[in-house]
Amino acid sequence: MVLDVSRFDLNAIGADFIENPHPVLHALRAQSPVHRNSDGSVYLTRYADVVKVYQSRDMLSDKTVEFGKKFGQCPLYKHHTTSLIFNDPPYHTVVRKLISGAFTPRKLAEFEPLIDGIVDRLLDRVEEMGQLDLINDFAKVLPTEIISFMLGIPEEYRARLRDYSIAILGALDPVVPKERLEAGNRAVEEFSEILDDLITHRRANPDGAAQGEVLEALIFGEHEGRRLTQEELIQNCIFLLNAGHETTTSMVGNSLGLLLDHPGEHRRLLADPTLIGSAVEEFLRVESPLQIGNRLAGEDIELEDCVLPKGTYIHTSIAGANRDPAQFPEPDRFDITRKPNRQIAFITGIHVCLGATLARVEGKIAIGKFVERFPKLAQTGPRTRLPLARFRGYTAFPISVR
Ligand code: HEM
Repeated sequence: MVLDVSRFDLNAIGADFIENPHPVLHALRAQSPVHRNSDGSVYLTRYADVVKVYQSRDMLSDKTVEFGKKFGQCPLYKHHTTSLIFNDPPYHTVVRKLISGAFTPRKLAEFEPLIDGIVDRLLDRVEEMGQLDLINDFAKVLPTEIISFMLGIPEEYRARLRDYSIAILGALDPVVPKERLEAGNRAVEEFSEILDDLITHRRANPDGAAQGEVLEALIFGEHEGRRLTQEELIQNCIFLLNAGHETTTSMVGNSLGLLLDHPGEHRRLLADPTLIGSAVEEFLRVESPLQIGNRLAGEDIELEDCVLPKGTYIHTSIAGANRDPAQFPEPDRFDITRKPNRQIAFITGIHVCLGATLARVEGKIAIGKFVERFPKLAQTGPRTRLPLARFRGYTAFPISVR
């Protein structure tokens, strides 16, 4: 039966779409690839259109007006409007250049053995537990440990960071109750105070940084004579922690879920662990942790078969693009050796994920080691999905490893 998507509205999606959006995304791509939502915005599901939007210099990420209406003047407003992700050039270019200094291949190479050590320690704990929740006991801890280490955040603060991250990102939902706004504002304030102290301390003691720490590169890095201000440093460090948190957690949970759902591919990876590199690309394609993005058209934009006028609010389906049969033959087939695989889970263009290399290294080490060490991995109860359309992942995933 052909699914009729003529009345589909991204602002009114239900649990079925969250559980499995692909039947609807395939139907949209075939029947209405530039789909108009009830509020006038459009939803794009074709790979070529999504890539075109991301690669156009005329598509805007600035959310000053939108967040001004939503938050008013408050810590959340200051945070989100100072983060590079919600800004356009020239501010975006400067901040991105300065932050990139902390994510150079040299820094990441230095960091790889440290990730190895962090993963080994976490896997020892998994082995001791035997039965555990994959998300809470492993996947969620990993990114916080790694980015906290990179920013030099002491151990005693790390458990709190996860709650801050959820409170700050939770305020980005379309409708936010008053208590959630208050929690988000409190999180920005408390987190800012911690970072303010750490940055001031590192500024005064630049040589005290541990191996692998990048905070000093962020503080002292220069682009055309400009350095990040204390406020820009604080807000962008908060953003770095948040950006890598939910997404990396979901990458790990989704990947092991895919292997359990496809025992043949699981066996292939067990038999040949060198496949982990292409397997990570396929995990990210089939179950992209961030599924929907958005941009405001700053100029008219020509897509495959229409022109969207300046001022159009565009939703990009990263999940839809990553299953477009025009780009990926048999797009619903999960194949850990798929080649070529130009998946866009990290998007493309000027806002391409700054943590993509780090995330890939984390994925290869964490998922690769998990699979090798626990070949008897089994699910012991139902998985619970994150109840969101934008982020795809699990909130609970009970497993046993022996
Ligand atoms: C599997 C894990 C990850 C996925 C799927 C992911 C995905 C994305 C996506 C789709 C964007 C673009 C958002 C937009 O402009 O609309 C983005 C931006 C960004 N990500 Fe990631 N990310 C991941 C991990 C990380 C990590 C580990 C870090 C760093 C610690 C990070 C740092 C950033 C930053 C700084 C940006 C903003 C770049 C800019 O605006 O120029 N991400 N990410």
